[in-house]
Amino acid sequence: MSSLQAAAVAHPNIALVKYWGKRDATNNRPAVPSISVTLSSLYTYSRVRFDPNLESDSFAIGGHRDAQTAIRVSACLDTIRARAGRDEFAYVETRNNFPTGAGLASSASGFAALVVAANRALRLDLPPADLSRIARRSSGSAARSLYGGFVEMPLDNEEETAYPLLDAEQWPLAIVIAVTATGAKDVGSTEGMERTTRTSDYYQAWLEAATADFATARDAILNQDFRELARVSERSCLKMHGLMLSTDPGLIYWNEASVACLHRIRMLRKDGVEVFFTMDAGPQVKAVCPPAYRQIVAEALGSIPGVTDVLQCRLGAGARVVEGAS
Ligand code: PMV
Repeated sequence: MSSLQAAAVAHPNIALVKYWGKRDATNNRPAVPSISVTLSSLYTYSRVRFDPNLESDSFAIGGHRDAQTAIRVSACLDTIRARAGRDEFAYVETRNNFPTGAGLASSASGFAALVVAANRALRLDLPPADLSRIARRSSGSAARSLYGGFVEMPLDNEEETAYPLLDAEQWPLAIVIAVTATGAKDVGSTEGMERTTRTSDYYQAWLEAATADFATARDAILNQDFRELARVSERSCLKMHGLMLSTDPGLIYWNEASVACLHRIRMLRKDGVEVFFTMDAGPQVKAVCPPAYRQIVAEALGSIPGVTDVLQCRLGAGARVVEGAS
């Protein structure tokens, strides 16, 4: 009976300075640096059990098989098996307490939880930077979910990994998510990025501006300058969506309710509410604000036609083992 098992929990993260585009698709290396916040409340739970009797990896998410994700999960486990010098296949059971593949960063929390659980199950004891790098090869944003609070992923001459930038307790912002659709998105981020890199006339300009946006946001976070963080984050988000729109064929991740939310957040700001928006490769809108404004923002977004749910989060912790042989 194998005891090579463990379970881990990881939270999704939302980028404030966006990652879109790869400089090395084979090793999944990002073309731009990024900064994110890790969320509380939403999570992926992943249980991994290596078993010498298995003839291939077995993967289920929410009790269902998902053949496409299973290939990515096995590739990630292969890296961990190689590091451990082991060859057992594994049962992987995963569940999310939020919609999967709909622009709520389920791949980020999913792969972060997977590497942490597999690392513990095989008693590998890899340091977080190594786990972050391994997670990044499966999903760029997953590298950032290894840590809590504000997280950065600079470009690196070797291979990118994420680092903690500022603890959640030091600047405890709130995140309000307006859910405007729960179905899986049409074009996933890997395909979308590949299409953008190949076809967008704006891609070169996006690459050239990225380092400056990263540096500005980094300083704004370290100085806890909300106004500056709001400016650079909205700009990075809108530039990424401009890039997506300029792809051929254009990638339109917004729906009517998303656009209404963006306008409402700007109106709130005009009325003195400290809040800014960001969106990823999906129609959900994320509003970032100091906790004192959380209720006002949630009520305003909840009243918009087409918003089906409003989720409220704080900044959360990094990925961690929740069950497992020590
Ligand atoms: O990690 P991926 O491959 O799912 O890409 C994430 C891309 C965005 O969410 C749109 C931006 C980001 O930096 O998280």
